[in-house]
Amino acid sequence: MLLDIHSHILPQIDDGSSSMKESLKLMSIQKEQGADAIIATPHFYADYCDLYEYTQNALEAFNHLKKNANEGTPELFLGYEVKYFNGISENELTNKLTLGNTEFILVEMPYAPISEKMLDEIEAISLNLGLTPILAHVDRYVSFPGFRDVMKLVDDGYAKAQINADSILCGSDKRKSLKLISDGYISYLGSDAHSVNERPPRINEFKQRLNKKLGPSYFEKIEKNSLEIYQKLRKGV
Ligand SMILES: [Fe+2]
Repeated sequence: MLLDIHSHILPQIDDGSSSMKESLKLMSIQKEQGADAIIATPHFYADYCDLYEYTQNALEAFNHLKKNANEGTPELFLGYEVKYFNGISENELTNKLTLGNTEFILVEMPYAPISEKMLDEIEAISLNLGLTPILAHVDRYVSFPGFRDVMKLVDDGYAKAQINADSILCGSDKRKSLKLISDGYISYLGSDAHSVNERPPRINEFKQRLNKKLGPSYFEKIEKNSLEIYQKLRKGV
């Protein structure tokens, strides 16, 4: 089961796909890359997105894309990539921004030093809201101060971690990203695809590279976890 849990594939909702044409092209690339299903996860910024308006627009774009998608392209689901904000663990909108109707919520941590309060809030999303936070593209933070504290949330069972496909394919932190995987921190894979040219989906390339570097068991684990989310997504449709 190849599930891409993080993508900006909806047309004209965020800084991702700029048109229906581009979204359809991204869908066909995803098919070539072997994706069985994709969760569209447009950015949600609590500071300036109106929940009702934003989710309505996203739903409309999602339905439109589904209707236009060619036969045989990956199944589509709707979720969000929720940027961390103060009060995320107490806010009633948090419950409405999950991946489909599952208990999983994709949370993007800030690109700033991680404070104790942030860690407490992520923990509280799990303990108080009963949701499972999935930390988006943890590979981007591997060199940040406090990164180990973030990973402790995973160690302690309060959060799961998602890695971007590009993490082990390019950039300066490839080795650290592989180490995260071999240390068992990564549960899910995302393309974080934004466009056909700048950040195309490369999930099959990730799979090939990972299998070559570490053997098949790590990707098999990602597939197993993906299947669990996929089954929950299907149930909630
Ligand atoms: Fe993203």
